[in-house]
Amino acid sequence: MKIRKPCLDLKIDFMRKGDLPTVMEIERQSFSSPWSESTFRRGIKRKNPHIYFFVVRHNQIPIGFINFWLVKDEAHIANFAVSPTYRRKGVGKYLLARSLGYISRRGGRLVSLEVRASNIPAQNLYRRMGFHPVSIRKKYYTDNGEDAYIFCIDDLSEIDLCIGET
Ligand SMILES: CC(C)(COP(=O)(O)OP(=O)(O)OC[C@H]1O[C@@H](n2cnc3c(N)ncnc32)[C@H](O)[C@@H]1OP(=O)(O)O)[C@@H](O)C(=O)NCCC(=O)NCCS
Repeated sequence: MKIRKPCLDLKIDFMRKGDLPTVMEIERQSFSSPWSESTFRRGIKRKNPHIYFFVVRHNQIPIGFINFWLVKDEAHIANFAVSPTYRRKGVGKYLLARSLGYISRRGGRLVSLEVRASNIPAQNLYRRMGFHPVSIRKKYYTDNGEDAYIFCIDDLSEIDLCIGET
């Protein structure tokens, strides 16, 4: 699939301590049970070589982020959000595609994630990127008892990620 870089000056790099105030704002705007700042703080220390936190920046300011772990050929996306101001501009698709490319180059093949049953925007995006639903975790989310769908890409090497620069 051809992923167009959004018409914004975007840069993806590792999340840093200085990003946390903006990242936390996006986190709180995006999730009903947001992660704590200490969870991000611990994660970005990069003591665990299997855990990755990336941000996508516009004019140096984080406008989205993704967190995943990668162990051998298996990856799991644990957190992913775009600032409400920047949604529906292709930023999420671009960040996810670049992250999948990164995972693939490091030997990742199976990629999984959980998504709320009601989260249609994210499910649409995941399907477009080659994920498919494999199972349901009943009442997985403790805040409202909602089910989680498990989405997977079985073999990342079969996904054609052609990321354009325009
Ligand atoms: C899910 C999320 C990251 C998508 O980011 P985004 O930058 O808005 O996504 P994109 O603009 O790249 O959209 C890519 C595709 O996703 C789907 N999509 C995105 N937002 C959608 C919406 N509101 N309704 C329906 N489909 C949507 C569409 O298929 C879209 O492609 P299109 O614009 O060509 O139709 C963003 O909505 C978000 O941060 N949501 C809150 C946090 C969240 O739910 N994270 C995922 C947890 S599993």
